[in-house]
Amino acid sequence: MSRPARVTIHTGALRHNLRLARQLAPEARVMAVIKANGYGHGLTDVATVLEDADAFAVASLEEAVQLRESGCGKPVILLEGVFSATELDAVRVHGLQPVVHDQRQLEWLAAQTGPASLDVWLKIDTGMHRLGIAPAQTRAFHARLQDCSCVRRIGLLTHLACADEPAHPRNQVQLAAFDAAVVGLDGECSIANSAALMRLEATRRGWVRPGIMLYGASPLQESIGPDLGLQAAMSLDSELIAVRRIEAGEPVGYGAAWTSERECLIGVVAIGYGDGYPRHAPAGTPVLVNGRQVPLIGRVSMDMITVDLGSVPDAAPGDPVQLWGPRLPIDTVARHAGTIAYELMCQVTGRVARFVD
Ligand SMILES: Cc1ncc(COP(=O)(O)O)c(C=O)c1O
Repeated sequence: MSRPARVTIHTGALRHNLRLARQLAPEARVMAVIKANGYGHGLTDVATVLEDADAFAVASLEEAVQLRESGCGKPVILLEGVFSATELDAVRVHGLQPVVHDQRQLEWLAAQTGPASLDVWLKIDTGMHRLGIAPAQTRAFHARLQDCSCVRRIGLLTHLACADEPAHPRNQVQLAAFDAAVVGLDGECSIANSAALMRLEATRRGWVRPGIMLYGASPLQESIGPDLGLQAAMSLDSELIAVRRIEAGEPVGYGAAWTSERECLIGVVAIGYGDGYPRHAPAGTPVLVNGRQVPLIGRVSMDMITVDLGSVPDAAPGDPVQLWGPRLPIDTVARHAGTIAYELMCQVTGRVARFVD
């Protein structure tokens, strides 16, 4: 192997986290959200490992077809539905389940002929105001879908805007709006993302849609993954490629943005924003060298970062470095960098060597 930057996907952790999701809602069925390349973990690898999920949810036809071509026979939901009428042919061929979130998608379905083979999910906008029909339109849309000759089953779905803050009043407002909109209608319901599944008991029904928790990061603002019994499914690792002694008052890195107050030992790590390490991670962001926590110093560059090795004076080139993983929660790194674990996971780039254990 040449450059030591590598990402490792931990299959045992993925399975553990799915078990935890199931335990939280034993009566519900699990639609594992694996869009965006399985949150950066590898779409088909994740689907294979999470064979115990009842269904998978993705964001595009391309992702769904990739799943089918890899041999996945489970129900696959298209969370944003189809983007054009022409996609409906492939939806039928591959037995996919599109969300219907607006009039346009409804008309595309209504224009389809052929047997009643499509299972669809009607998305109701109960207050997030991103996708979905207004609650007051639910009955009319449901009736139109029932009249579509190609439609077999209609599920009822909504998404919560503030589930990561369980006490946020918006959650109860959205739940009440959903229940009022679907009362008396036939069809299975789906409300819970990871955060709701963990903290909002009333959403643990029908189909739950965990995403981030499957990968071991916390869906809640107030906690990090390990606090919730989750295991990190991704490690980003590299090595020290240089160890240097710097005089007091000397700057390190681009823009001379960090200056040593005293003579110090710094390490250069082969990782940078070209690998997906966040460019905006500030000095002080934790990094593990030989399993010991040290602070990032200076600016993150494309291929390298620098760390203060003051607490690891015996560190040497070639020593192992973890940027996030089982011993350094990705949530912690994300917080320092002013982002969320979702973004860090999704942005690991293709040049990083990938392993599955
Ligand atoms: C409609 C929908 N449901 C469920 C999820 C999963 O959310 P989380 O990863 O927070 O569990 C997402 C993710 O963005 C989503 O868009």
